Amino acid sequence: MTAATCLALASSALAAESVEVIHWWTSSGETAAVGKFKEAFTAKGFEWKDLAVGGADNQRMLLKARVGKGSSPDAAQINSDVRAYAADRSNLANLDALAAKEGWDSVLPAPVLRYAKMGGPSYVAVPVNVHRQNVMWINAAALKKIGADAPPKTWEEFFAMADKARAAGMIPLAMGEDTWVNFFFYTVAYSTMPPDSFRKAFYDADESALKSAGMLRAFEVFRKARSYVDRSASTRKWNEATQMVIQGRAFALVMGDWAKGEFVQAGKKPNEDYLCAPVPGTSNGHLFNSDAFMFFKHGKDSAAQLALAQTLMNKEAQQAFSLLKGSVPVRTDADVSKFDECSKKSYADFVSAGKSGTLACGAQHDPDASKVRRLA
Ligand code: BGC
Repeated sequence: MTAATCLALASSALAAESVEVIHWWTSSGETAAVGKFKEAFTAKGFEWKDLAVGGADNQRMLLKARVGKGSSPDAAQINSDVRAYAADRSNLANLDALAAKEGWDSVLPAPVLRYAKMGGPSYVAVPVNVHRQNVMWINAAALKKIGADAPPKTWEEFFAMADKARAAGMIPLAMGEDTWVNFFFYTVAYSTMPPDSFRKAFYDADESALKSAGMLRAFEVFRKARSYVDRSASTRKWNEATQMVIQGRAFALVMGDWAKGEFVQAGKKPNEDYLCAPVPGTSNGHLFNSDAFMFFKHGKDSAAQLALAQTLMNKEAQQAFSLLKGSVPVRTDADVSKFDECSKKSYADFVSAGKSGTLACGAQHDPDASKVRRLA
């Protein structure tokens, strides 16, 4: 054996087993956050091959194409499209032994557990966090400037504040491209419809819920709110819309709490530089989504895939990730004492909304939703 062959054999023996991970976390907060999972995974001696695709829709399209032509990635970030891939479980790595060994069933909140198993006995995805969607972000100095001392509790209060913000030279409501208009409508409907009616409308396309007074009111609020949005919104990314509030060019933004990752990266503090309030009319209600990863099977069981699944469910890794992401860890035994007021409130409202029946999620997260529209 030549020295060169020897060297080649030695280095291939030493090469770390890798996992190709496709995700859409490309904003500054998202990049910092996912970096925590990468760190924890590579510390185990594996390689994370990053495939970051800007924009959830672009990632979804690429994932679909890759799975369709038989070259699925080893791991993929997923949330509302979990259902499509859960339909054929034979394509997915089996996580059951790991889940049983690590006791996942006992640390996941019931609605997320149902989502992670999509109505079946086995895990189809590994959830990492809980994001709150019904959040209104307000620039604190802007609130002061218009003479208000608390966020709006109703849409009427918001519109009165928005008029003052406009008169003071600000864009009253920061908005992003179409996806976020759609997202905004969804959160407005959550604020104007009783939770049961909201679920019937968006999970089951129930006709009476779709024609209900709450839905009509959602359209009224939506139409009026759009009159406070500037003309450039249609090409704006969600993180650019967030920057408008961070910099005080806009008064408010309705966005899931992934927006907080951008405030964190900008060094801004809740209740000093900005406020995070429930969307008007939603008080303690919690509209959530949970980011998760699916693992595609490639013949034999992969130690690296299982190691990544284990890392994603690791308590400390979830905490480090969520502190930068704006979410809260999905594990109910996680320590949220180091989290800020926005996250603590989200965590408390997630638990209490679960008990009071006001908790809702993107329809794709619910295995019982009969007619799913991809809305969140
Ligand atoms: C995901 C978040 C992500 C956001 C913006 C949401 O669908 O749940 O993790 O930060 O999209 O990219």
